[in-house]
Amino acid sequence: SDIAVTTGGSRDIAQIVRDNNKNYLVLFASQTGTAEDYAKKFAKELAAKFSLNVMCGDVENYDFETLNELPENCIVSIFISTYGEGDFPDGAINFEEFLSNAADVNSLPNVNFTLFGLGNSTYEFYNGAAGKALKHLEAAGASIIGPYGQGDDGAGTTDEDYMSWKDAVMELLKDQLKLDEHEQTFTPSFKYEPLSSISEETSLGEPSFQYLPVGKLSFNDAHIQLGPYDLSHPFVAPIVKSNELFTSADRNCIHSEIDISGSNMKYSTGDHLGIWPSNANEKVEQFLSTFGLDSNTIFDLKPLDSTVKLPFPVPTTIGAAVRNYMEITGPVPRNLFASLVQFAPNDELKEKLTSLSQDKDLFAKEVTAKYLNLADALLQLSNGEKWSTVPWEFLIEAIPHLNPRYYSISSSALSEKQVIHITSVVENSENPTGSGPRVLGVATNLLRNIELVENKEDESTLPIHYDLTGPRKLFSGFKLPVHVRRSTFRLPTNPSTPVLMIGPGTGVAPFRGFIRERVAYVQTQENVKLGKHLLFYGSRDTHDYLYKEEWPEYSKKLDGSFEMVVCHSRLPNVKKVYVQDKLRERASDVYQMIKDGAFIYVCGDAGSMAKGVSSALVDILSKEQSISTEDACEMIKMLKTSGRYQEDIW
Ligand code: 2AM
Repeated sequence: SDIAVTTGGSRDIAQIVRDNNKNYLVLFASQTGTAEDYAKKFAKELAAKFSLNVMCGDVENYDFETLNELPENCIVSIFISTYGEGDFPDGAINFEEFLSNAADVNSLPNVNFTLFGLGNSTYEFYNGAAGKALKHLEAAGASIIGPYGQGDDGAGTTDEDYMSWKDAVMELLKDQLKLDEHEQTFTPSFKYEPLSSISEETSLGEPSFQYLPVGKLSFNDAHIQLGPYDLSHPFVAPIVKSNELFTSADRNCIHSEIDISGSNMKYSTGDHLGIWPSNANEKVEQFLSTFGLDSNTIFDLKPLDSTVKLPFPVPTTIGAAVRNYMEITGPVPRNLFASLVQFAPNDELKEKLTSLSQDKDLFAKEVTAKYLNLADALLQLSNGEKWSTVPWEFLIEAIPHLNPRYYSISSSALSEKQVIHITSVVENSENPTGSGPRVLGVATNLLRNIELVENKEDESTLPIHYDLTGPRKLFSGFKLPVHVRRSTFRLPTNPSTPVLMIGPGTGVAPFRGFIRERVAYVQTQENVKLGKHLLFYGSRDTHDYLYKEEWPEYSKKLDGSFEMVVCHSRLPNVKKVYVQDKLRERASDVYQMIKDGAFIYVCGDAGSMAKGVSSALVDILSKEQSISTEDACEMIKMLKTSGRYQEDIW
């Protein structure tokens, strides 16, 4: 993961804080980068408003034995995201262990902290990791300042949850630390240096090119990439197939195949693939023009002290940084408007920015509800006038990092060892307000735009640059940075165990992988007795029925032990039917399978679908077994804890 930030090789937290003359510590434990973004935002605001000398770092990089010996009045603000079953992020395992040990011996009496958790209330263990941290810290004698903040991604309110928590906490800090508040003034963390040219040996910061010298911007050199490949180091893999499974005016679905041979990368059936997207040409150009930036400006960044980490490989060009590393099309955080006030081109815009940033409801109505990105929102305010007064150095630090997007793998590691399949619905819809920009997913539109041609050498120039509008583009040798993320979604090891799968829409992706796995398995074995494999699938109609022509073949090859139950929700003049309705219809079969030890898998929408399925199963158990709803709930819970009921939901 991140390169450890150390002082003379030390990981000693108190020493690093002292050696860098810091008087405030912000720590984050992040899985996908959200906690990191909020931590950095918080640290930047403390510095900009109160001139504090703030250090911000990933808990992964430090040892905490000296946490109780921080300089006097140095407060610790902690941001923790929850992952899996209420777990800490992967990089925070040692931090969790430290906290739990500290709790046993009451060893943090000098620590004053604030805490903000990032979670999702659609899942069972909402903010589980932050909750555990709070318990440990308090047991260790540490004192919390202000409320324990909880961001809820499930309700879509993380940003506003953060804002109200932050306002409350900053008020208290002001009192406790006797801070003077002034208008926000940006203090950069990096020394910015424009370069007139770049040496042959340096990279230009394209993710695929960061290991390659300039002038060789050819994907043919990608073999010099070195593994292992993970979240901080993707493999640049060729896309070998990309086709539309269905397409309509505002909705389509892409099947993509990604070749990982030569990478030593392995996956298991049921894992996820992380795709590192880049922004579309139109969006990059809109951003550059809004801020009056020149795409070709080459620059270098030097951290101003040893506690800050480069946001992307440098030297690079402004264009490459915007395209590959900055989340320029995401929702605009209200806070960002407050920090932009200092750079507004004139007094009128200064006022407009200020009032929008202070009025939660107005901001929600004028910016969030219209799905505006930063450039859209600023241009709307200024009636199209440019914002060239905003410095590039500020944008580098204020705009979140472009994070990888994850997809459930729809191939089987047994039948497709070197090629990973994914199935993605392309997000491309009309603006819900009726006017304003279309709502477009970054990664899915990139995938949609790739139509492959074979043996067309001249098509392979910089194919990572793509347009959002217009027809699909023909490319050969298109490559994308990817990495495999382990999941816990696994078929039972015993093939005779019955398998119950529920996956409407693209939720069917991992089940295609499961079934292909079983097909490959029976082909290598003699006289296998497969347990019953029952798949519940739902789509709107027959047009968006995914992999429709494949399923009968699997059924034939599995000799009848695979059955698929299909329903549709938008057939003309027919009542809506959902997978949970079908489950109820097949109650006795479903119950029999569970009695026979079936493993249950649910994949797809984490909101109402997963809940609807779960309550259908509760009803089935309670009815078929003549037990109370509470007892049936308890049984489902037990199936979950024992790994016999697994969810891959988003
Ligand atoms: P819809 O027509 O009502 O959107 C794949 O997207 C399928 O999942 C669609 O048929 C969709 O139906 C359906 N779906 C939507 N919400 C659902 C829910 N709460 N439970 C089950 N299926 C749902």
